[in-house]
Amino acid sequence: MQNFEQFLQEHLPRSNSFHPHYERALQVMLQAGGKRFRPALLLAVVRAYNPLMIESAYHAALAVELLHTYSLIHDDLPAMDDSPLRRGNPTLHVLFDEVTAILVGDALNTYSFEVLADAPFAPSMKVELVKLLAHNGGLNGMVLGQAIDCHFENKPLGIEQIRFLHINKTAKLIAASLAMGAVIVGKEDLALKLYEFGIELGLLFQIQDDILDVTQSSEEAGKLTNNDEEKNSFVTILGLNKAKEEADSLAYKLLGELDGFEKRLKEELSPLLVQYIHRHK
Ligand code: IPE
Ligand code: IPE
Ligand code: MG
Ligand code: MG
Ligand code: MG
Repeated sequence: MQNFEQFLQEHLPRSNSFHPHYERALQVMLQAGGKRFRPALLLAVVRAYNPLMIESAYHAALAVELLHTYSLIHDDLPAMDDSPLRRGNPTLHVLFDEVTAILVGDALNTYSFEVLADAPFAPSMKVELVKLLAHNGGLNGMVLGQAIDCHFENKPLGIEQIRFLHINKTAKLIAASLAMGAVIVGKEDLALKLYEFGIELGLLFQIQDDILDVTQSSEEAGKLTNNDEEKNSFVTILGLNKAKEEADSLAYKLLGELDGFEKRLKEELSPLLVQYIHRHK
């Protein structure tokens, strides 16, 4: 049986042409690694309820990772966060040029839905997965969050607006990953419950990311840190100590909620949450 990384390697975006670096640019950020947190969440749910479906679920997990990777490539563009480093590698606009970075982002975005369309699921399930990914990763999800994040640089928002920003920017895609896992194993009610849980988990993930932005070196993080001063990050708004307190209380709350899930789901999700729930220093 393959693992997810092998599957990803085999399904890397490919393009044969006389373009000197297009294909390499399509692949380099995917091969650079990353935590694969969203695929891991999706696969944890599938493993809990129907391990026989795990290899089929790799298609959906890859689709999420492709969309997430596209979001990172665009996030790093000069017009957005202007970052030279991602996943320990030079960003695509540094390695190649800005045009390439923009277009690779576009290509990974659409390839993500091609992978879902080709997945070995019933058509109705594929439509549900496409809707979840598009809705949460798209115009009323990640893209909206990024639009607010960039538009309101140097314009402090209120705490409810900040919650809205980060729910859209980060939490919705994390919530969708869990919900997609539940859809694959045919558990619609669980999908709703996990979506709610995922929103809080996603907020925690972003608070920790904001904390790491000020506590980690770029080398440790594999991406440019100390880059959020102009942003409505949890740290710039709450201060480092309050952000840490917020992260800890949210983590505590989530561990409590995890207790309410079925044993097998709890067993699959716990190690992931423990690994990522206390990430900040
Ligand atoms: C970074 O996501 C962007 C955020 C939403 C905080 P990750 O921290 O999951 O990045 P990778 O995938 O591990 O590189
Ligand atoms: C970006 O948030 C979240 C995305 C939707 C890509 P950040 O700008 O904080 O992510 P990093 O810190 O650059 O990974
Ligand atoms: Mg950003
Ligand atoms: Mg960024
Ligand atoms: Mg960040």
